[in-house]
Order: sequence, then structure tokens, then C-alpha cells
Amino acid sequence: MARLSVNVDHVATVRQARRALEPDPVAAAILAELAGAHGIIVHLREDRRHIQDRDLRLLREVVKTHLNLEMAAVEEIINIALEVRPDMVTFVPERREELTTEGGLDVAGQVERLGEVVARMKGAGIRVSLFVDPDPRSIEAASACGADVVEIHTGRYAERFPSHGAMEELERIKEAALLARSLKLEVHAGHGLDYRNVSPLVGIREIEEFSIGHSIVARAVLVGMERAVREMLELVRG
Ligand code: PXP
Repeated sequence: MARLSVNVDHVATVRQARRALEPDPVAAAILAELAGAHGIIVHLREDRRHIQDRDLRLLREVVKTHLNLEMAAVEEIINIALEVRPDMVTFVPERREELTTEGGLDVAGQVERLGEVVARMKGAGIRVSLFVDPDPRSIEAASACGADVVEIHTGRYAERFPSHGAMEELERIKEAALLARSLKLEVHAGHGLDYRNVSPLVGIREIEEFSIGHSIVARAVLVGMERAVREMLELVRG
């Protein structure tokens, strides 16, 4: 049965819209855990547009399940990660002008550099995930870097859902997941997943965990965090 990790970035987005104290992503994380989430994810972006350093430090203290820090592989954030010690980091590409993470990491183009950063994290006892597009080159390069986990980017699948094109993407994701498992990588998936498009992916048994943020926070605004997480958990359990 797959696990669900909840990304609470957009609770912080609402707070930062007014530079206020509420809503607090730390409170949202606690409610998500109470509803059964298997982990909490935040992305500490270089521009600090949503999650702040204070959030990450408090989450490290209060999260009882599993804390996954999404981050760019840049020195400032690497040092924060080494100090705060989340259970896992997920390296993602980051561009300031983007609304959200747009593509997977170019792993194949930077195996040596990423390999060094992965080794630094693992040396500190932090597991490492790489966010990659569902293509064989990236999966093989992630393995060459020494990553523990690959998170397969489901954005293209989600954008095309429910058209025929989405089913082609589903096949690519399945093949990428099979290849990753054969290389002994743990397989996660995420980006753009919602209450309608997640179920076909749940059928890919190699995917052990889903990372879902926007759709859960969007529903939580209307029905509450616990209900929104419970409803997604039911779908992820298949
Ligand atoms: N996984 C990664 C690596 C991401 O960057 C994001 C977005 O922060 C997500 C999953 C969650 O995507 P969404 O908010 O569309 O569910």
C-alpha cells in the first residue's frame, strides 16, 4: 500500500500573501499527521516565497512521521539542511520566475556535482531523493549519483489527464518506475496530482509514496485539513 506525504507549502503561501502569522504551516502539518499522513514535505526556496526558515526549524521539532525538505542543490540551503537535519532531502531544479517546480532535475548533465552533494547529505545521515522526469537516462543517472530515492515528476501526466496523452504518460511513468526498482531505487511520484488523477497511478505498485500539496491544501481551505488528507489517503490506499 502506497504512502502519502503532504506538502504544506501553500498554507505558507496564504500566510505570506499578508506577511501575517496565520495560517501556520506547522499547525497544518500537525493536522495532516493526525489525519494519517505518512510524512510532511516543505520546499525552502531561495526566495523564501512561502516556507520560512522558522517553519523548517519548528517542523523538525514537531513532525513525528517523516520530514522531507525539497531544495535546490545550492550552498546556502545545503548548509541549512545539514544543520536542521530533515529525514530526507529532495533535490529539485529551482528558477525564481517559475510558479512551481517546472521540470525534473537534469541529473545526467551533472552526475559528478550532484554525486558530491548526495554524498555530503548521506554522510550526515540524511536520505536523498532526486526529482526526475520519467525518462531512463535520468533514472540511471540518479542511481549513478548514489540517490536512495527517485521522485518521478507526474506534471505532464497531470496536465494531460484525462486525455489519451495522459495514458501514454502513465506508461512512461510505469516504465521509469520499473527501471528504478531494478536499480534498487525507492520510487516516489508527485506534482500536479489531485483527487481525480491519482487513482491510475496507484495501480503502479512500484510507486511507494505520493507527494501531494496543492490539491490537498486547496480542498482543505473548503473542508478542513484533516478531511482533505483523509480523503486523499483513501485514494492512495487504492
Ligand atoms: N514533488 C515535488 C518535487 C514538488 O516540487 C512539488 C511542488 O512543490 C510537489 C511534489 C507537489 O506538487 P503539487 O503541489 O502540485 O501537489
